[in-house]
Amino acid sequence: MSQALLVVMLLSLSVAFSSTSAAILELTESNFKRTLATPRLSFVSFHVDWCPHSQSLKPIIDRAAKELETEYPDPSLLTFARVDGDAEPELAKRHGVMKYPTMKIFRYGASVRLEYRGQRSVDAIKEFVRAQLSDSLTRLAAPVSDSQVPVEPRQKAMIGRFRSNDSAGLDTFLRVAELLRDEECVFLAIVGEKDEPESVVYQRGTDMATQISLDYIEEIALKRLAFQKCMPIVRELTFENAEAITEEGLPLFVLFYRDDGSTVVDKYKSAVENELKKIYRQDQFFVRSWRLVRSSNSSNGKIVGRPATDCHRQLPAHLCVSARC
Ligand SMILES: *[C@@H]1O[C@H](CO)[C@@H](O)[C@H](O)[C@H]1NC(C)=O
Ligand SMILES: *[C@@H]1O[C@H](CO)[C@@H](O)[C@H](O)[C@H]1NC(C)=O
Repeated sequence: MSQALLVVMLLSLSVAFSSTSAAILELTESNFKRTLATPRLSFVSFHVDWCPHSQSLKPIIDRAAKELETEYPDPSLLTFARVDGDAEPELAKRHGVMKYPTMKIFRYGASVRLEYRGQRSVDAIKEFVRAQLSDSLTRLAAPVSDSQVPVEPRQKAMIGRFRSNDSAGLDTFLRVAELLRDEECVFLAIVGEKDEPESVVYQRGTDMATQISLDYIEEIALKRLAFQKCMPIVRELTFENAEAITEEGLPLFVLFYRDDGSTVVDKYKSAVENELKKIYRQDQFFVRSWRLVRSSNSSNGKIVGRPATDCHRQLPAHLCVSARC
């Protein structure tokens, strides 16, 4: 083989390599778990070649991924990946993907409720990812006494006390805070404790009677407490989340109420919780079929059961731009 030919071959090989080694990883059944396990945030797009909406999204995600890779070069922080739904039907099904494209978020390998349903543009995706990578917990320097912990009235808080920023307990706390960053609790880490053992407590507002402490900081126990306290069983239905909620295809049980400070919402929540306790075991993490709607208008306190509805009939057009196959 002539040397010139060899050089040409090597050159074309390196060109081919650099175009496939873009920021996006192709996931299959065999590398899915391993690839997503480490990164704090994985943005995974489920796509199929035959869907034009899926095709037009591809170069947009490629560019967003490439540009974000220079911004966040640490692969343990951010990973972009895609799954071909035709090649990996089981994988898509297991993650509840019924339409293409679907963009899912994983944190440390765990699928979270949030999906990307925003505008399909490089800038919008970049902005979304940046927001998702912002701090999920607030660090305070010790000493902070119990009464000084900045929790708003009625706010749900997970409060951890740690010796240093390098503490393993803080690392666990941070991972759980990440998993629950879209839910109802604030996570506060008080760092630099000298004497006390490290601890985590749950607290509602400033009411010390609501405190639940963990005996020791361990991931399963911490997750159990945090999921139980921070994942709302009854969720507020808004224009932003209506598409995601109705798409789950579950029957909805909806309270329309007026935001006038009445106790109807608390009553509704406790009625729902009591009913669900009969059906589900206490430690079940996800209960997804009960919803709450805030309505500025008349039907205050009226409970309406209705099946999942078509987003396109229920919502203003700009919220239903996410055309899919
Ligand atoms: C922990 O890290 C934060 C920044 O994330 C820093 O402000 C703080 O001083 C550190 N605390 C200790 C005790 O090292
Ligand atoms: C509430 O409903 C009434 C009639 O059903 C309607 O006339 C009124 O405009 C509505 N108000 C708001 C704020 O939507």
